[in-house]
Amino acid sequence: MTVTGLRCRNCGKHYPIEAVSICEECFGPLEVEYDYEEIKERLSKAEIARRAPTLWRYRELLPVERDESIVDLKAGFTPLHRADNLAEALGLKELYIKNDSVNPTFSFKDRVVSVAVSKAIEFGFDTVGCASTGNLANSVAAHAAKARLNCYIFIPANLNLGKIIQTLAYEPNLIAVEGNYDDVNRLCTEIAGYYNWGFVNINLRPFYSEGSKTLGYEVAEQLGWQAPERAVIPVASGSLLTKIYKGLKELEVLGLIDSADTRITAAQSEGCSPVTTAFRTGEPIKPVKPNTIEKSLAIGNPADGHYALKVIRETRGTAGAASDPEIIEGIKLLARTEGIFTETAGGVVIATLKNLVEAGEIDRDERVVAYITGNGLKTQDVLADYLTKPPVIEAELDAFRQLVEKKQEVVAW
Ligand SMILES: Cc1ncc(COP(=O)(O)O)c(C=O)c1O
Ligand SMILES: [Zn+2]
Repeated sequence: MTVTGLRCRNCGKHYPIEAVSICEECFGPLEVEYDYEEIKERLSKAEIARRAPTLWRYRELLPVERDESIVDLKAGFTPLHRADNLAEALGLKELYIKNDSVNPTFSFKDRVVSVAVSKAIEFGFDTVGCASTGNLANSVAAHAAKARLNCYIFIPANLNLGKIIQTLAYEPNLIAVEGNYDDVNRLCTEIAGYYNWGFVNINLRPFYSEGSKTLGYEVAEQLGWQAPERAVIPVASGSLLTKIYKGLKELEVLGLIDSADTRITAAQSEGCSPVTTAFRTGEPIKPVKPNTIEKSLAIGNPADGHYALKVIRETRGTAGAASDPEIIEGIKLLARTEGIFTETAGGVVIATLKNLVEAGEIDRDERVVAYITGNGLKTQDVLADYLTKPPVIEAELDAFRQLVEKKQEVVAW
């Protein structure tokens, strides 16, 4: 065992490993703690390289006790692309895209869910569930199907059709709730307490969130065991951002990288930017009511927002935001320069990166990694109105010639 227990991030109180997420003394969030000396003995670069290309190659740094408990759809070890075309378009020297949209259910959520559902099995839960903005719903439903667990999933009623259809395909109990994510989350907290169910992002949250650290480990490994100078990360609850940083710091502690000197940078949509707004004003986070086409990141009251802000400040990072038209343009820009089709959350990341470079907040010489965490097939409905529809022709060479030659004429004019 490499895990030593849970500790409150706020007051430091220690807890044994159980399905709790909030400190009973101060209501702070609980976090998993490890014995890094023990991990140092067992984990080396060579050992990691020998293992299968999934998130479980960092097994000792994840809070699951037994190999038999692991529910593995083979998430993780997704490609890191050197993105020279996009770099040129944005005026950057060295840019990489971590393409986490090619996970088993097409978002990074498979990392957190693989850990949480494995832990649910160790705790003996027969039912798992979540409150979701869509991607988590897809992933929990898929992992519950694989693990043969009962599954209850709660979403805001106004989600993208693509996410709802994908979730339904795995046949969980899917419940659409009138209200936004924060309303759904409040309801799920009550349900998790009333029934003895494992809600991955509520009572299993300390274990769930550890899965996101693997997005820090992988990027460092793929860069030849180096931390990037800048990481641009989409923010909803703020958990992913804080855990990527925790992952990099752990590699530093273990001596696997020299230093975790990455400037951690948050990306949000203007229609739901509580973390970015707090960073800019220097005030505490004020909850907002989301009003944007971007649904994946639409959490108005971010559970880990305070800790995300701390990480951004500590690392001398920054935070930016993108408007709805910029998000659409961000999706299209990534697709036409790098051949990677992302959903709205990825549009937020690319558009925010563009805005921050133009504002001089990100230096053109930095080695930047942009995290693309969800797949474009999930939010096609948002994009449909902003694409040029294909011309329809008869199946005749003449028809095609007429089209092309006419076009050439237009171009010539
Ligand atoms: C595609 C995508 N990226 C990023 C996030 C951010 O996650 P977090 O809540 O950990 O900030 C989410 C959350 O739902 C998401 O769906
Ligand atoms: Zn506490």
